[in-house]
Amino acid sequence: MQEIDFSKLGAKFSPSEKRGVGLLRDTDLLIFCPGISTCGFAEIKMALQNKKRQIIATTIDAEGFGKTKKIIEQQGLSNRIQVKIENVTKPMPYDDKCFDFIYARLILHYLSKQELDKTLEEFYRILKPSGRVFIVVRKKDWEVNSPNTEYDNNTKMITYQLFDSDMKITPITVSRYLHTKDSISNHLKTAGFGIEYIKEYEEQLFRDYLRTSPAPKLSSVIELLANK
Ligand SMILES: C[S@@+](CC[C@H](N)C(=O)[O-])C[C@H]1O[C@@H](n2cnc3c(N)ncnc32)[C@H](O)[C@@H]1O
Repeated sequence: MQEIDFSKLGAKFSPSEKRGVGLLRDTDLLIFCPGISTCGFAEIKMALQNKKRQIIATTIDAEGFGKTKKIIEQQGLSNRIQVKIENVTKPMPYDDKCFDFIYARLILHYLSKQELDKTLEEFYRILKPSGRVFIVVRKKDWEVNSPNTEYDNNTKMITYQLFDSDMKITPITVSRYLHTKDSISNHLKTAGFGIEYIKEYEEQLFRDYLRTSPAPKLSSVIELLANK
């Protein structure tokens, strides 16, 4: 197995990622990771923590899929970490009550209100009765202060332009459902989950898959752990 230097790949282990991976118990053996992490970094850590653990990690990004799959192969972990192209908003090809833990960091704010409700229903279905879900979502902050920001009350999506590293507005437009503690908690409660903890803080996020291009300012995020 080729020893991997994560820092050379640009994969900085962020505080929320570290906490999410750190929440896993020895008894958490089947993990679902929608929106695979940079270089499969979180998933590799999960696999290395426990030799019996199996991880299914998904993405809709073909380029990230290819890069991550290669790194996981180089680590000799392909039999423990399955990487798939799969859209989290679609019905999931997994049995009821099969996963011990769902790790959903920085993916659910990509979904509209309607997609989020469907996804959380599926999370609830595929989690074991004692299962837990770790979530980190973006919160509304400085980034939506561009003149052309638009809000869709039906989907709850905010469409806004990104700023570059000099805080100049760029033509790149993204749409996100930026949450409050109440909004994400209410979606989870509607799906049947209980909230173990919820907190908000600022974290350095990155614009690119390899985490080499930092956002020009810290971003506000909400982190929570929910149980079935
Ligand atoms: C900001 S990255 C965060 C990834 C990772 N969880 C982490 O903590 O580094 C968002 C990831 O979610 C994926 N993604 C976005 N929408 C998705 C969807 N509908 N289904 C599956 N993956 C999705 C993107 O392709 C990307 O890999």
